[in-house]
Amino acid sequence: VTVGDQSFGRGEGGETHQTATGEVPTLTTAQGVPVADDQNTLRVGSRGPALLEDFHFREKIFHFDHERIPERVVHARGYGAHGYFELTDSLSDITTADVLQRPGERVPAFVRLSTVAGGRGSSDLPRDIRGFAVKLYTKEGNWDIVGNNAPVFFVQDAIKFPDFVHSIKEEPDRGFPQAQSAHDNLWDFVSLSPESMHAIMWAMSDRAIPRSLRFIEGFGVHTFRFVSKEGNSTFVKFHWKPKAGLQSVVWNEALKINGADPDFHRRDLWDAITSGDFPEWELGVQLFDDEFADNFDFDILDATKLIPEELVPVRRIGRLVLDRVVDNFFAETEQVAFCTQNVVSGIDFTNDPLLQGRNFSYLDTQLKRLGGPNFTHIPVNAPKCPFHTFQQDGHAAMHNPKGRANYEPNSWGPEVGGARENPARGYKSYVAQESGETRRERAELFADHYSQTRQFYISQTKTEQVHIQQAYTFELSKVETPAIRSRVVSHLLNIDKELALTVAKGIGLEKLPEAAPPARPVIDDLPPSPALSILKN
Ligand code: HEM
Repeated sequence: VTVGDQSFGRGEGGETHQTATGEVPTLTTAQGVPVADDQNTLRVGSRGPALLEDFHFREKIFHFDHERIPERVVHARGYGAHGYFELTDSLSDITTADVLQRPGERVPAFVRLSTVAGGRGSSDLPRDIRGFAVKLYTKEGNWDIVGNNAPVFFVQDAIKFPDFVHSIKEEPDRGFPQAQSAHDNLWDFVSLSPESMHAIMWAMSDRAIPRSLRFIEGFGVHTFRFVSKEGNSTFVKFHWKPKAGLQSVVWNEALKINGADPDFHRRDLWDAITSGDFPEWELGVQLFDDEFADNFDFDILDATKLIPEELVPVRRIGRLVLDRVVDNFFAETEQVAFCTQNVVSGIDFTNDPLLQGRNFSYLDTQLKRLGGPNFTHIPVNAPKCPFHTFQQDGHAAMHNPKGRANYEPNSWGPEVGGARENPARGYKSYVAQESGETRRERAELFADHYSQTRQFYISQTKTEQVHIQQAYTFELSKVETPAIRSRVVSHLLNIDKELALTVAKGIGLEKLPEAAPPARPVIDDLPPSPALSILKN
């Protein structure tokens, strides 16, 4: 029979052949050799043995055997889409970043939204923080904002990150739980690391069970710098505000959805984009100077703290629209490599010890995950502006230098000499004044772990507070070790008495513990911040 441009027939053994006719391309090997039979290995006689010389069979199986690459060590499960960023308000007085100069101008974007703890095959609706990673292909290079849907993080110093991640992943002896926060190791670690209390409260809130990825906020978390033409620095926090607003499910719904459709969020994003209902976020910035930083109750370099929007309003400066699904999940969503150190002229780092560790970690892990130093040549990672380096060779090199020169300075003319550095246009680091003795102790101002956690809790509506109480109760009820449960409650006592007592009762704690001794006095009169509530937004 012939259907469309292919004909179907049966071989001698009854197997189905689809044969190229008309416009249908001919199947080939990776070397381009046309394939006549893709159903049968080359054999001696009609029943074998199979022959090693069957290069088509060997190439096909060899390639299949190597299909898997390591999943991301965190944020393994994610979903990506293409779109664009459009500037709506110029920041030309504050930063030289080319993408933030001319309102109305668009640059292409790629976004990957993810869960943190679960593996690549886990479900979409665990109680978890969501990753919000954005790559903007600007005319002056790629700029990545590698954020989360919570504005605060679990640890203050990158040296604690491997322990934190080990504790949230499956326990090494039993291999479970795989994607739940409900287990002894996690609660053991966080109750021994009070700096995590604020982020944990976010993870116990409705934010951690979003209805869809279209209804989440994104936060760059760290304080970055904008640098102006004159070399002046302004501190900045980045925010993505969903045009659709914020929405979550309740825990019972999350449990049912995970069972009924573990792909719920990725299906939703795919359906929305392919039906033309493009998800959209506004880019907002909180801008502040040294004087604000010096007078703030907390250290602006501490990633476990946020800057309340009531104190420093979020200025909306652009919009991000996702309007195209990927052609191939692996090529784009799996192989995309975000990195906090991918910044462009006009944007610089601060001394946040978590950020500085991240700047090392992403490149390092991607070297392994993506099989060598040339993953920037993969189309989803390559800049979309002209780029010229003298980097060469390595696995799968696609952009080796052309001609004789693979070094600089060199004496060759423009045709063979390649590119030259450009002091007028090139990236210049902010000229910061640094001094001090070498030490490991954390700055004193990093030591208050409860005040902002309390502020988050009192900013929630009563309904949201009840959800938080239920989340702690549910998760802690899974913890087998009484001392760990009790230690968590000892921290909650510093955050909100009613919360602590409700959870203690809910998990059947026999004796209420003493409150954990705070390293710094808790500021219990911080004003509520309505922006932290989903229901008020
Ligand atoms: C992956 C966010 C802290 C190491 C990711 C991803 C996001 C993210 C969104 C997924 C990127 C993607 O979709 O491909 C954050 C945020 C942090 C944080 C907001 C704190 C503010 C850290 C720290 C480290 C780290 C402290 C290590 C020192 C990694 C690694 C990956 C990753 C190794 C996997 C990257 C890959 O395989 O491509 N992170 N992270 N993260 N993060 Fe973080």
